[in-house]
Amino acid sequence: MTNSVVIAIDGTAACGKGTLARRLARHYGFAHLDSGALYRLVALGVIEAMRDPSNEADALRAAGAIDLTRAGDPKIRSDVVGQASSKVAAIPAVRAALLQFQRDFARTPPGNSLGAVIDGRDIGTVIAPDAPAKLFVDARPDVRARRRQMELEGMGISRSEADLVAELTARDAADKSRPVSPLKQAPDADLLDTSDLGIDAAFAAALALVSPKVAKVLQSALKDRHRG
Ligand code: DC
Repeated sequence: MTNSVVIAIDGTAACGKGTLARRLARHYGFAHLDSGALYRLVALGVIEAMRDPSNEADALRAAGAIDLTRAGDPKIRSDVVGQASSKVAAIPAVRAALLQFQRDFARTPPGNSLGAVIDGRDIGTVIAPDAPAKLFVDARPDVRARRRQMELEGMGISRSEADLVAELTARDAADKSRPVSPLKQAPDADLLDTSDLGIDAAFAAALALVSPKVAKVLQSALKDRHRG
């Protein structure tokens, strides 16, 4: 049994879950894992090897050679890598290869942290189904596309909102319909729609939802820590 306090944050593409996860982690002093970066790193490996992201052997080879030191590489944020990451993520063997790392992170967060905030698509359903606090984050596709457009503009990339809406909704559809670990709201997750919320308001809403749940288990995690 783990005594680490896990906050699981799942949601649609570009819904702002990464920003919320980072801020929640900072607020509580917990470790943060962006699980999407793992699939993006696998996709980048496949693309750099000029192989096919839908091919199990190619994707599995990249998963076996994943380089976590490149998690901050801006290359993994490109739309090409985003689309390819959804393809590698639909391959059960790839998900299996990445499972233990994520579960270990949840159970024993790095830096001796008392807890972990993990964001992705299957955190509340598969990776950490016992997490005491779970959020399912969403926003209207046009809102998500505009946020993504602004983010890309900051990187000097110009994309039409219509194209981005099409890409995001196609990726969501693929992530929701895959047979293994599809994107879906865990029955005990709170839904947070950030369509009409700025970053600070979204963070306040997220904190209001998770804080009673975190407070309940934080005390016992602290006691266990002192006892152990
Ligand atoms: O969160 P993101 O956009 O960086 O994720 C990229 C892709 O990785 C996403 O389209 C689906 C996949 N993914 C997943 O299947 N499971 C996760 N826990 C995280 C991401």
